Amino acid sequence: MVKFTRKFYITTPIYYVNGKPHIGHVFTTVVADCIARWKRILGFNVFFLTGTDEHGIKNQKAAENIGMKVEEFVDKMSEEFKKLWKVLNISHNFFIRTSDKKIHYPTAQEIWKRIKENGDIYKKKYRGYYCSGCEAFVTEKDLIDGKCPFHGKEPEVVEEENYFFKLSKYAEKVGELIEKDEIKIIPEARKHEILSFIKQGVEDVSFSRSKSRVYWGIPVPEDDSQVMYVWCDALTNYLSGIGFTYDKEKFEKFWPADLHIIGKEILRFHALIWPAMLISAGLPLPKKILAHGFITSGGKKMSKTLGNVIEPVEYIKEFGADALRYYLLREISTQEDGDFTRENFIRRYNADLADNLGNLVRRVFVLIQKYFDGKIPKGEKDVELWKKIEERVEVFEKEMEELKLNMACAELWKIFDLTNEYLNKNEPWKRSEIRAKVIRNVAEGLRVSAILLYPFMPTTAEKILSGFYLGKEHIKIENIEFGKLKEGEEVRIPKVFFEKVEEDEFSKLDLKIGKIVKVEDVENAEKLYKISVDLGKEKRTLVAGIKNFYSKEELLGKKIVVLCNLKPKKIFGILSQGMLLACETKSGEVSLLTCDAEIGRDVYVEGIEKNPSKEISLDEFLSLELKVKDGIAYYKDKMLLADGQKIVADKPVSGK
Ligand code: ME8
Repeated sequence: MVKFTRKFYITTPIYYVNGKPHIGHVFTTVVADCIARWKRILGFNVFFLTGTDEHGIKNQKAAENIGMKVEEFVDKMSEEFKKLWKVLNISHNFFIRTSDKKIHYPTAQEIWKRIKENGDIYKKKYRGYYCSGCEAFVTEKDLIDGKCPFHGKEPEVVEEENYFFKLSKYAEKVGELIEKDEIKIIPEARKHEILSFIKQGVEDVSFSRSKSRVYWGIPVPEDDSQVMYVWCDALTNYLSGIGFTYDKEKFEKFWPADLHIIGKEILRFHALIWPAMLISAGLPLPKKILAHGFITSGGKKMSKTLGNVIEPVEYIKEFGADALRYYLLREISTQEDGDFTRENFIRRYNADLADNLGNLVRRVFVLIQKYFDGKIPKGEKDVELWKKIEERVEVFEKEMEELKLNMACAELWKIFDLTNEYLNKNEPWKRSEIRAKVIRNVAEGLRVSAILLYPFMPTTAEKILSGFYLGKEHIKIENIEFGKLKEGEEVRIPKVFFEKVEEDEFSKLDLKIGKIVKVEDVENAEKLYKISVDLGKEKRTLVAGIKNFYSKEELLGKKIVVLCNLKPKKIFGILSQGMLLACETKSGEVSLLTCDAEIGRDVYVEGIEKNPSKEISLDEFLSLELKVKDGIAYYKDKMLLADGQKIVADKPVSGK
């Protein structure tokens, strides 16, 4: 019998190249990769497409801002995405670039022509607000305090004659298809959101821009004075990426898309405009859209001013690509918003990777080495254990099917737990009569787990399997069962180990910029001042021994560095709620640390995430290597910073 292979076409959004790839881009792409890999394990013929969205005002402006030619700029930035996907082991089959004149332009123009021939494109004079962040016209009701809620910027007023797409003609039809799950929107909440948006009434959309304003785009067929609206151009990447105009066979094999993965903010484009375009152009519609939530950092939207931007590259450097993939897939749900904190990352890394997974791998291989001369022992299936494992695998498969990757991942870790517990309970190191059976069973359990781990942590999974001398070809659904290892076959200990991470002591400090707003004498104390500092959100009182070095006038208005989580202490009857930082030279001279950053800003060093303890003692603080060299403050060899500015002593001294 001929085995029929099913196809699976999966896509990510194509990302704007106006900045380097960020953690949100990484998340979506890793989610797509995880699903693509799982589908391949299941035997699907997968086509996984990602790429970059290179036209439009946003990219054009970004290039202009740094004085680069836009063609060169997009080449360079697109390369950044490709490089990062390589490091993260993204298994896409093709990387589409919308600036590609051979591959992409003909598709975008062909779709335009088809829509036009269908009578769905017309010319109209228009005046509206345009948000370049969204690359979309927005209405007043979309704005909060006159600003775009996603980009925090005021949109610009645009008045020009454009081509319009008759979206209103198709809105109801698309709504019906979504309602009936013929275009299935996941999660449910997003389905309702888009349906209620459609019910409120949908207007036609501007589909082109005047070339005099936006020169960087695909020319509108038969009208050189206009370029296509960037979304009209971008959405067609899903067709051009699989050969719409240049590889008919491939296109017919893979279209329609089985799954578009996107972030929730671009659902309207994918669930409404895109299907409407396809209906108009006479093409089949995508089957499913997963619109995932947003990643926040410490509960807040990431922003440079808040200093809470998560840099994927730094995590990869410090912990490895698989660890970052793991955290994203395990901790951030595909259904809702999720939070990313360094503290939580390290907690997961230590507990799940170093302890749970790392220990199990080590134990299994060491036991085989020690008791069976490095060869797989003979042993029958432990029915009770495998019943439990099989139950977990079933749940894993169901969660994967529902695209709840974090839940599937949690199931897999339950298998690691089961295997670890089974070892602990049976103690094969003590009980020679069941030793072979127990070790054989945990070895099989680990092998099966490695196959399930592959979509999440491909490098780690391959390393574990290589310990059994099994290669990529072993990563298949039919091998997820007991008995695929052969008795007497050799093993080697794989290098999979995740070293436990201890946080740098500096992260415990809560240092902030404060401004001195009041200075008073302290009764009966010759050397002390009572100082009030404004920390932005609060005022604090400090008692400081600097009277011999500074007059009150000199201190007033100075911006200083305050250690905010020092254990409060009563000094001469006054509760000192922290400590100001100063440098003391060998000759006993004292110089205050200052910085011109905004009041309340954190003082940090690069590469160490702040994770302040509730309180620290003076001894703990003094044990840290803080010093001033030629007037600049350092922790170890790293400069202290606030808002990107150096912390400096107010005299050019060196000391502790
Ligand atoms: O919108 N959390 O590109 P883009 C999770 N070019 N995911 C996030 C995120 C966050 N905080 N921020 C961004 C575009 N994303 C268009 C798409 S498709 C035809 C054109 C992810 O560079 C999420 O997938 O702004 C979101 O939809 C995408 O990045 C937006 O990337």
